[in-house]
Amino acid sequence: MPSVGSSLKPVKRMPAPKTLPRIAATDFIRDLDISQDELLALLDLTHQLKANPGRFATALAGRYITLLFEKPSLRTRFTFELAIKQLGGDAVLAVGPIADREPLKDVARNFDRWTNAIVARTFSQQTIDDLAHWSSVPVINALSDRFHPCQALADVFTLQERFGDVRGLKLAFVGDGNNVAHSLMLASLRLGMSFSLATPVGYEPDAEIVAQAEALAAVAGGQLVITNNAREAVDGAQAVYTDVWASMGQEHEKEKRLADFAPYQVNAGLFQHAAPEAIFLHCLPAKRGEEVHDDVIESSQSAVFDQAENRLHVQKALLLMLLG
Ligand code: CP
Ligand code: NVA
Repeated sequence: MPSVGSSLKPVKRMPAPKTLPRIAATDFIRDLDISQDELLALLDLTHQLKANPGRFATALAGRYITLLFEKPSLRTRFTFELAIKQLGGDAVLAVGPIADREPLKDVARNFDRWTNAIVARTFSQQTIDDLAHWSSVPVINALSDRFHPCQALADVFTLQERFGDVRGLKLAFVGDGNNVAHSLMLASLRLGMSFSLATPVGYEPDAEIVAQAEALAAVAGGQLVITNNAREAVDGAQAVYTDVWASMGQEHEKEKRLADFAPYQVNAGLFQHAAPEAIFLHCLPAKRGEEVHDDVIESSQSAVFDQAENRLHVQKALLLMLLG
């Protein structure tokens, strides 16, 4: 089985903290809810937790966390449940429509009384914003139509593991300017990486998020490129990322999207334009033969299962910094 684990570069880290670093905000529902320093502290803590999985095994003892999923999930659901349990807490799962029997503001205020945090995957970002508004406990975005901030944490952590200092690296995203692209753009530019996104015409990322990303790039020194040319985006990149062409909730657009995105498949022909040491990233689930070809996702340069594993470690750090 191909693995990138053996070639991980050591990263110089801060000594283990005596007290846990904290996130000042109550919620993590957008990537920018945590500060630059908090992001760096979270990544440092993640390295320590991954090296010492038994640390903080009772930090969440007596805490119960609501896991709310309006949409399907494998990785997010399992890694949050495991993260909570490995920290000594427990999770209560709710699957399906959140507010079909009563207003969301009432649902939120019930969870607020019963549990110590809410992890929510919803169709609309507005639903997560409303949950945060109507509850006093921390709310974590486990994927909405606009953001996937926990995924982006795992992705930049995976890049740190692989490359050490990520400043100056070029990350290319080829495909839809979607939730995953939005979060990754913000997280990577913030860390001083350059981010090139290639989408078909009409599938560009949200203009407001691009403006935020440009401001981050100006501070951190990276470059943001939005193009319709996949080859230009991938050229010389140290990492090439893609995601499904039709996200959950967009299934009815699938036929049109298959046609529009066809020239944007990440296959060996496109990947060869990346840097020789480049890795392939995908949040998963992947649709082979659509956004990615087996010759890339199954290659020795694929780091997709490192990303999936790292969801667990970054979410442990996130829970500790919000609740510990
Ligand atoms: N990457 C990710 O969020 O996977 P799931 O949809 O399986 O949770
Ligand atoms: N963009 C995808 C990501 C799934 C993890 C979706 O929203 O369905």
